[in-house]
Amino acid sequence: MDPRGAAAAAAAQMVGDPLCCCCCCSTSSSSRTTTTTTTTAKKNRGRGPSLFCVGGDGAVLGTTLRLQNDERRRRRRSGRTAATAAGNAKSSSSSAVSKETTLNEGGILVVPPERIRNFSIIAHIDHGKSTIADRLLEITDTVAQRDMQAQLLDGMDLERERGITIKLNSARMNYKSKKDGETYVLNLIDTPGHVDFSYEVSRSLAACEGALLVVDASQGVEAQTLANVYLALENDLEIVPVLNKIDLPAADCDRVAQEIEDVLGLDATEAVQCSAKAGIGMDDILEDIVRLVPPPRVPVENEPFRALIFDSYFDTYRGVVVVFRVFDGEVNVGDKIELMNTGAKYDVLELGVMKPNKIPVKKLRPGDVGYCVAGIKSIKDARVGDTITLTKNRAEKPLAGYSEAVPMVYCGLFPTDTDRYNDLRDALEKLQLNDASLNYEPEVSSAMGFGFRCGFLGLLHMEVVQERLEREYNLDLITTAPSVVYHVYMSNGEKLTVANPADLPDAAGRDRIEEPFVKLELFTPKEYVGPLMELATQRRGEYIDMTFLSQDRACLRYDIPLGEVVTDFFDQLKGRSKGYASMEYQFHEYRENDLVRLDVMINGEVAEPLATITHRSKAYGIGRGLVDKLKELIPRQQFKIPIQAAIGNKIIASTQLSAMRKDVLAKCYGGDISRKKKLLKKQAAGKKRMKAFGKVEISQEAFMAVLQIDQSNVGE
Ligand code: GTP
Repeated sequence: MDPRGAAAAAAAQMVGDPLCCCCCCSTSSSSRTTTTTTTTAKKNRGRGPSLFCVGGDGAVLGTTLRLQNDERRRRRRSGRTAATAAGNAKSSSSSAVSKETTLNEGGILVVPPERIRNFSIIAHIDHGKSTIADRLLEITDTVAQRDMQAQLLDGMDLERERGITIKLNSARMNYKSKKDGETYVLNLIDTPGHVDFSYEVSRSLAACEGALLVVDASQGVEAQTLANVYLALENDLEIVPVLNKIDLPAADCDRVAQEIEDVLGLDATEAVQCSAKAGIGMDDILEDIVRLVPPPRVPVENEPFRALIFDSYFDTYRGVVVVFRVFDGEVNVGDKIELMNTGAKYDVLELGVMKPNKIPVKKLRPGDVGYCVAGIKSIKDARVGDTITLTKNRAEKPLAGYSEAVPMVYCGLFPTDTDRYNDLRDALEKLQLNDASLNYEPEVSSAMGFGFRCGFLGLLHMEVVQERLEREYNLDLITTAPSVVYHVYMSNGEKLTVANPADLPDAAGRDRIEEPFVKLELFTPKEYVGPLMELATQRRGEYIDMTFLSQDRACLRYDIPLGEVVTDFFDQLKGRSKGYASMEYQFHEYRENDLVRLDVMINGEVAEPLATITHRSKAYGIGRGLVDKLKELIPRQQFKIPIQAAIGNKIIASTQLSAMRKDVLAKCYGGDISRKKKLLKKQAAGKKRMKAFGKVEISQEAFMAVLQIDQSNVGE
């Protein structure tokens, strides 16, 4: 059973709602609600996208999670996690390592693994992860007061400007516990909250033993809170809930704690209530981390070195810098490392830890999070998810790594200056190192020249990549409208995968087209249920069910075409709910639909990059909206420009951009009328030439016109 389905079922149970929507729901209720063990839940985690389906013999995960919580509660009472206990049991067989005394190596505190805690901060967007990270860095004196600035770990200009975290970032802190007087090393990994960057979250979670789940006490459980909890569960992490923003008048800790219990199945009765802004409760958070997050596995002497790369980036002077978590063994400067997937071998030139600035060290031990510079020149040699080992005592098996990110949206990226194609290729290669979810392959378009078709996890991801390419690599780019991937079955039995609408074969040779559907969850205060249902219906969503998370908040579930979600759906959602609703989606399946390619013709020429695939019932409305929008966005020329939308040979909408009449007579004051006539004649000839040979300049905005159409009155 998928944890999502299970938690949804838990929520449904709460309101006594029959939830099942799948074939397995024929199972009798008694078999559905039997108690399961934690093991069953773990076994079933991440099993496909059966989002709302409760497995035939499985129980609801909400129940299971509650059982897990009872176990956690017991652990809390005894003040020690089961994993710690397991670690300690092991340590009796290898006590030599765990009894190691605290060292201070070049200003870096080194402690035995049982005093290391690796944890991520996860939350819905804007619930305060980065602000909590700031306070923790402050309170542990990791960053001097004078160097402190808001959202310190959000190092990119883009992150600061937009106020969002895009990249995961890590920092090593020392903390002296007030309870046991011991000093601990805490490795914190701050993660993004937006749905488009969940791949970053999943990678950081693979490097940790615990996750601090931050929930805004004035808002409660949101879509990404749930999504991130599932990711943490898939990675078997200890989840430590924290209620943030208690300084706000709207904060309601009891309600939100109850919501966390009901929806996520996590016990939040003892959760720290804090305010990152006011610096309240930060010590308690650190104590909870020390007490509840399990330490790394106790190392076995002489075991082969294994470390998991969870981030990497390109440094102009040092080559590729890899950021990793050591799981087994030790690595020293001067060792020869091997990257297990590629077999590439390098000498370690520099090792270090992030505090959060890079501090070089001579050695990294089990449980450490650090970076390595090894003169890696080829970007392909150091992929995120690869395992590093040593050539002299080589590990046999790599660590589990990560599943590849699957792009949801594709678009074309073209340099405005065609000579810069190679620069764009290099930039994409370097950026991919830092953003493992970016996908690209070369594309040639008669209208646009040479470029790349790139795959992204969503629209925000697409925007961020474009902006990073322009800022960090000094490129000027044109991005074409986003599209999803369609499966096209030809009459001759051939199956095509189409990510570019311009590549969709003509209707004559096609048998059918299938489009991707996602399972969509909308979390909203109940007063916005109506407008959001209307929105989902307009976007061809198929209603599944609605459950109440609390008295005032509901969760709506739909099956909906991905193509409808990746346009302006998120903006509409925020607009209609005054910013209070949140959403989360997961790929579900491909479904056949009556889809058509809508071509746009500007000045009689088909503008390939503006083509879009849409449902037939909406094609007329979208065609009309598109030509009207383009009329606003294309600058007027000195000749008339017809703008048309067509399905095959049939024009379905058309408009005309009137000519801008240049006042050629402006400088011609006085004089003979024949002089004026001559100038006007010359202008007319020039217009004709431009019409025949000249190109209409289309701005970047016009390429994205399809995203700006008001779809509220379109189709069906
Ligand atoms: P993303 O990285 O974009 O997912 O956001 P985040 O979860 O890291 O949130 P961030 O720390 O950027 O905080 C979002 C906003 O909430 C900022 O304006 C913070 O100043 C504010 N904020 C964070 N913590 C508190 C708090 O305890 N009280 C109040 N009143 N505001 C807070």
